[in-house]
Amino acid sequence: MSISELGYSLDEWDIETIDEDELGAIVDLTNEISAESEPRHTDLTTDEFRMFVNSPGQIRRRFVVRSRTYSPVALLSTNYADDGSNRGRLRVIIAVAPEHRRRGIGSRLLDKAVAIAKELERSTLTGEVSDTVKAGRAFLTAVGGKATLEHHLNSVEIADLDRDLLEQWVDQGPERAPGYSVHVFDGNFPDEHLEGMAHLYLVLERDMPTPEGQEPREWTPDLIHQFMEHYLQGTEALTALAIHEESGQAAGMSQLVRRTANPSTWIVTTTMVDPVHRGHALGKWVKGAVNIDDRWPEGEYQETENASTNDAMLGINHAMGFEYGLTMAEVEVDVDQVERYLDSTDH
Ligand SMILES: CC(C)(COP(=O)(O)OP(=O)(O)OC[C@H]1O[C@@H](n2cnc3c(N)ncnc32)[C@H](O)[C@@H]1OP(=O)(O)O)[C@@H](O)C(=O)NCCC(=O)NCCS
Repeated sequence: MSISELGYSLDEWDIETIDEDELGAIVDLTNEISAESEPRHTDLTTDEFRMFVNSPGQIRRRFVVRSRTYSPVALLSTNYADDGSNRGRLRVIIAVAPEHRRRGIGSRLLDKAVAIAKELERSTLTGEVSDTVKAGRAFLTAVGGKATLEHHLNSVEIADLDRDLLEQWVDQGPERAPGYSVHVFDGNFPDEHLEGMAHLYLVLERDMPTPEGQEPREWTPDLIHQFMEHYLQGTEALTALAIHEESGQAAGMSQLVRRTANPSTWIVTTTMVDPVHRGHALGKWVKGAVNIDDRWPEGEYQETENASTNDAMLGINHAMGFEYGLTMAEVEVDVDQVERYLDSTDH
């Protein structure tokens, strides 16, 4: 059945040109769907939405399904990196308002995603499901896809963090890592560290657990700068950077980010140490340094996502008091398989 036979319309929209009221209705739908999966969700404003869904470095298309009363009821977005990495893969986000599920809308959107993948000669669709919304996993199973990597969303109440332990990690830093220094930056990175940060992002993507077949993307100093400027429109960031003094190389980092509109929840975006600089407790030093920085004296929660197989990171986070919250899974399905599924159902 087509989307119009189901009683809906499907339109592509552009974030630069969409009417403000129409965008507002799409943001309301996104907030409703996010509240279902994120335990501590607070609504995004239209400006925040614009920022979060439009980060640099990606090529995107977006679609909205509307009911007969012109209310948005489902969304599809597709994206891929603009640097030529992961040429066989297309990232897909599909979300349907709870009261419009099980009518075949998700399947129609998947059909649209397949058409885009074929135009781009990409053979695998990738996405994410959360265990807080059972329908996501059920849909994936019905379509014949699979989960490839699980992430745990872990959190800690900031008041419960062991400050003595964090201070100890910082105090012991120079002794356990002689020849290194740690600096904490508020906001964007100073120009002289952009090259080092680009190197760390590449190492991170190369090194962290990722689904098989996923390649790291290219990171340039310019993209790092643009990326930070983009997010700093609606967030604040504190970044601890470890430098190997003799070579001047960036050796590791830890970053906290918070939404300006919701400063009580801090997100740990990245903590990493370049493998060539491991074994000197730099991970603890950068983690401690960003956490005890007095520029952010108060907050309620910290949240972080860790691959469930990442023992080194989980070890540090458990020592800090982080506790398991929920599981999200990276998922994928071949375009051929989706076509077989769609041919076999009357959706
Ligand atoms: C996953 C989601 C997009 C499915 O949308 P939908 O419009 O309900 O999908 P469809 O009606 O096309 O369902 C297709 C098939 O998937 C399976 N399915 C979907 N939801 C299911 C559920 N809650 N329980 C069991 N099976 C389910 C069924 O086999 C269904 O066919 P059927 O209704 O004939 O039995 C929707 O539930 C949603 O938005 N979830 C939250 C966001 C999310 O997790 N997205 C993941 C994709 S990136």
